[in-house]
Amino acid sequence: MNERELYEAAARVRKMAYCPYSHYSVGAAVLTESGKVYTGCNIENASYPAGICAERTAISKAVSEGEQKIVMIAVAGGPEAEDGIYTPPCGICRQVMAEFGGAALKIILRKDGELVRFTLADLLPESFSL
Ligand code: THU
Repeated sequence: MNERELYEAAARVRKMAYCPYSHYSVGAAVLTESGKVYTGCNIENASYPAGICAERTAISKAVSEGEQKIVMIAVAGGPEAEDGIYTPPCGICRQVMAEFGGAALKIILRKDGELVRFTLADLLPESFSL
């Protein structure tokens, strides 16, 4: 499973997004240490804070299947019915990535039509942990 394949999995699940309020659809795909892939989309709610981002949907699916270590995550997002644009993960999702990925987690995004890569250490320096 390479970066492009993981991004394509994120782009596919993006079509499942439930986003009637923002019309901004997001898909995420996580690769676990064991080599499995879990995908998720954003799921909004009429009570706005009850919505969940794609990244946390995917990570929650992995953890609930017994996979607590993720090594790479790809995120595809943008206005519904448009190609994916640059969609860096929100702060809450970065904190959840810290819990199950750690500083070395690779994060794959699409920017100006190309895949770009970061580590979680790039996107969440000096992160909190217990
Ligand atoms: N969203 C995600 O799913 N992931 C991100 O990285 C950024 C934002 C969702 C939340 C909400 O449903 C919509 O995008 C607009 O903020």
